[in-house]
Amino acid sequence: MGDLKGLILSGGAGTRLRPITHTSAKQLVPVANKPVLFYGIEALVSAGVSEIAIVIAPETGEEIRAAVGDGSALGARVTYITQDAPRGLAHALLCAEGFVGSASFVMYLGDNLLRDGITELAAAFRASRPDASILLTEVADPWHYGVAALEGERVVRLVEKPTEPPSSLALVGVYMFGPEIFAAAKSISPSARGELEITDAIQSLIDSGRRVESHTVTGWWKDTGQLDDMLEANRLVLSDIERRLEGELVESRVEGPVRLDAGARVERSLIRGPAVIAAGAVISDSYVGPYTSIGPDVVVSGSEVEHSILLAGSRIEGVETRVEASLLGRGVRLRRVERRPSTLRMILGDRSEIEIP
Ligand code: DAU
Repeated sequence: MGDLKGLILSGGAGTRLRPITHTSAKQLVPVANKPVLFYGIEALVSAGVSEIAIVIAPETGEEIRAAVGDGSALGARVTYITQDAPRGLAHALLCAEGFVGSASFVMYLGDNLLRDGITELAAAFRASRPDASILLTEVADPWHYGVAALEGERVVRLVEKPTEPPSSLALVGVYMFGPEIFAAAKSISPSARGELEITDAIQSLIDSGRRVESHTVTGWWKDTGQLDDMLEANRLVLSDIERRLEGELVESRVEGPVRLDAGARVERSLIRGPAVIAAGAVISDSYVGPYTSIGPDVVVSGSEVEHSILLAGSRIEGVETRVEASLLGRGVRLRRVERRPSTLRMILGDRSEIEIP
């Protein structure tokens, strides 16, 4: 089982999730109160891949190291490789050549979530040992992804974010490679957006007659790089949780699958699952609706919230309009005050987004 190594890409700039990613790595934004990146590490470990290197960016790398450490808590042995700037997925891969050596390996994009993991894909790769194996899925908006053109089962062409997609089959962010990929990545030049594209490196394998296999994802898949996708991933993960009430409940009602962690407290409130509420959170005189993840030490009082992700230490107080489809960063405070004239007053970080009815 120890035959494949793992490479997780968690560098990059995360521009589409600002302002959250001004101060922290997008791969650490929690989905159902667990960082996205941890799902990836767990998927690799379940597939028998426990020797893992994580590619990190200079700006957010320390935070990722602090969260993952040596990986032992997740059953992995993790080392880190710093990529100086986001020069593309194939560049990130080249940074890991020393770590990979002559092994075959799985490359996993740190912001991707796959419901059914990668165990089957790894088994198929181990059985047939192609030079590359890619994972595809049908999407409605292929221009946002790498796209594959097939002839029968055979992959003939890969294009990155095409304006005129040759098919609706998007590349999922999980790739399996033999050592030939390094020569291929060295043979390509930067794309129009200035990155060394992994799609071009794989195309170069195809063009030189190497064997590139494709598989199709069965369960759901999400690239969590944008707010709506992050909320959707949160919804999908919460759809599978089980009811477990360990926190304190005072004059409250809890309906459906809700995970209330020990050390959380709910007073005079209605919680309608699926939802998760972490230790240290206090919900009082409030409604928490479906698909909501409430992080550690969050306060919700006299308010309504649903289909949202509230990061550690954020607070919603006395807000009568229901908060929905929202992502609140760490320590964000949203509160109603009695004041005449009734004006809006706020301190918003760069690129914050607020919608007022
Ligand atoms: O999610 C699937 C898509 O991922 C594929 O369909 C595309 O073919 C592939 O290029 C990629 O597109 P994205 O635009 O979503 O890639 P993104 O820039 O978000 O980077 C993916 C992960 O890799 C993310 O965790 C950041 C990390 N990364 C990215 C770059 C550009 C690095 O570690 N280094 C880099 O240089």
